[in-house]
Amino acid sequence: MRTQVAIVGAGPAGLTLGHLLHREGIDSVILEGRRREYVEARIRAGVLEHDVAALFDEAGVGERLRREGLVHTGVELQADGERHRIAFDELTGKSIVVYGQTEIVKDLIEARLASGRQLQFEVSDVTLHELESDRPRVRFGHEGAEWELECDVVAGCDGFHGVSRESIPPDVLRSFTREYPYGWLGILAAVAPSNDELVYAHHERGFALLSMRSPELSRLYLQCAPDESLEGWSDGRIWEELHTRLGMEGWELREGQILEKGVTPMRSFVAEPMQWGSLYLAGDAAHIVPPTGAKGLNLAVRDVHVLAEALAAWYRTGKRELLERYSETCLRRVWRAEHFSWWMTTTLHRGPSDDEFGLRLQQSQLRYLRSSVAAATSLAENYVGVEAA
Ligand code: FAD
Ligand code: DHB
Repeated sequence: MRTQVAIVGAGPAGLTLGHLLHREGIDSVILEGRRREYVEARIRAGVLEHDVAALFDEAGVGERLRREGLVHTGVELQADGERHRIAFDELTGKSIVVYGQTEIVKDLIEARLASGRQLQFEVSDVTLHELESDRPRVRFGHEGAEWELECDVVAGCDGFHGVSRESIPPDVLRSFTREYPYGWLGILAAVAPSNDELVYAHHERGFALLSMRSPELSRLYLQCAPDESLEGWSDGRIWEELHTRLGMEGWELREGQILEKGVTPMRSFVAEPMQWGSLYLAGDAAHIVPPTGAKGLNLAVRDVHVLAEALAAWYRTGKRELLERYSETCLRRVWRAEHFSWWMTTTLHRGPSDDEFGLRLQQSQLRYLRSSVAAATSLAENYVGVEAA
């Protein structure tokens, strides 16, 4: 087997890369460990930055996103039982689109199948070889047989637990990590969202977030322990806690049937460099952010956009400059998002060992965001997506 670009992983990064390359006439093979149904049902992120939604549009996969995605021109921050709106459109001229990662993945898989290019689900034992050469190889198992795929470059889009990052020698790879003493308990509920816009709530009992997927589906999160067991969380207790943390005079949280529950631990992580030899890492394979800034999916898509343009320039002209700058270009944006995500997280969550000093700092920062246009603008431009200097 031979292709130009071997892509490991059919998450948002791998599927978007395959699609952008196809638009440039570049062949790729996407190798995914899981079943199609599993990949399409995995509930994760829900917020697209302005330019990421525009990218899907320009790439010809934005038709359903434009029809069903919910354009939001702001979010609300809640503290001390009061809500304050951060008006993205007024402060930055941009907006965001609420559209589930599951839906993007479905749209991209459909586009891939229509392109006729290869996407193989349920592959096993993926290993990367000869990455220091310009003829790297990917070996894998599929339908009982063993395969070797020869290519020009390998794109490691296989998420945090994938095999690609580990293929970089330990003396080359530097990792930066921060663990948080909390996680999120997320639910999907069959009920109309109780607010038109997302609500990020600071509360003494812990953070809560009101989000949504459609006019009929609410998505809600509660800060919990990183290893929280779902056993102690009956539907009744989840709603009670959401009422407490999101509650406000004159506002009612609507309850509905809980369709899905899950716990997500939180970490910050960056691997440097994002390229070694013929291997290019993209998305969660290279970096993780805590979800509070809604950046994970957006970073993944922006990485592969840079990579697709660099590969297209190389195939077109033979010049490697953009490819050589790939890691540096991405890492500037990644670190901006790392800072923003860490800041949103530590401003809005209460850690088990946080003291009163920490609480006073959070309260002051939240008041500053309410009173200062400069502070609100800084949040807004990072949230809608900023080009890192
Ligand atoms: P992934 O989506 O992880 O895709 C990687 C793909 O590679 C997967 O399909 C996997 O099956 C496949 N793979 C892995 N190993 C191999 C292998 N060895 N061989 C072949 N295939 C392999 N972000 C937000 O902004 N908001 C959220 O609320 C949010 N919630 C999240 C909840 C969870 C539980 C997780 C894990 C992440 C969440 N994120 C969230 C982050 C966001 O979903 C990710 O940043 C995004 O999915 C990154 O896309 P990706 O394509 O880089 O990686
Ligand atoms: C959602 C997830 C986030 O991490 C976030 O910051 C906002 C919304 C969501 O899943 O809808």
